[in-house]
Amino acid sequence: MRKKIVAGNWKMNKTFSEAEMLLEEIAELLTDDLLSKATVVVCPPSLYLELADDIAAENGFYTGAQNLSDKESGAYTGEISAAMIKSIGVDYVIIGHSERRTYYHETDELLKEKVLQALKHELTPVFCCGEVLDQRNQSIHFDVVKKQLEIALFDLSPEEFSKIVIAYEPVWAIGTGVNATPAQAQEMHTYIRKLIADRYNKEIADETTILYGGSCNEKNAPELFSQPDVDGGLIGGASLKAESFIGIIKAI
Ligand code: PGA
Repeated sequence: MRKKIVAGNWKMNKTFSEAEMLLEEIAELLTDDLLSKATVVVCPPSLYLELADDIAAENGFYTGAQNLSDKESGAYTGEISAAMIKSIGVDYVIIGHSERRTYYHETDELLKEKVLQALKHELTPVFCCGEVLDQRNQSIHFDVVKKQLEIALFDLSPEEFSKIVIAYEPVWAIGTGVNATPAQAQEMHTYIRKLIADRYNKEIADETTILYGGSCNEKNAPELFSQPDVDGGLIGGASLKAESFIGIIKAI
């Protein structure tokens, strides 16, 4: 059975002491029962990953980086490599978040290199895909997502692909308070699973965890997560408060 995951993407928020407090609160509220239902991943700013991973390791949850370099090592000022991230015990990395695509001009060709770096160093990529509002209005959202997956992921071998987690995040839903309806999420997740089955096989498609992201909160999570092809969520704003993050995990 495929893994259910709830991952919190803190983005560029929290000072060190605030981060420490939030991590401690999450650790305290996470029960064994919740941890048996979902894999919980916290993705703080990279600066706090070591701290986060120490707390996570003691409390049954996992950590993820929000980004990584497409390069192995060397003269790339400001970059953080997959090997560095792995060396402090981190297990996941978000790749291709729409904010990185938009503000830092990350292309699917570049993201493909990042995915390869992550896999080489045994980090699980949480690969983000999704359309902007204009593309949905033009009814080309399926084609947009298909192209993103084809370029960045579909050259992977079946063995490599089976290590990928996908997050469908319609850009119009991120940070806007307007979530995709459960039906819209389910429709796209089914489509993505079919693409995987066509490119690889049904077994791999059935085993791939596909998360929904975009204004997911305690209120809408139960219905979103009850969709058969929605395997959890990538949570932004609502992961910045322990109670709301835990509330979302409870919806799994
Ligand atoms: P949001 O962000 O939950 O604040 O909409 C989701 C994300 O960007 O991953």
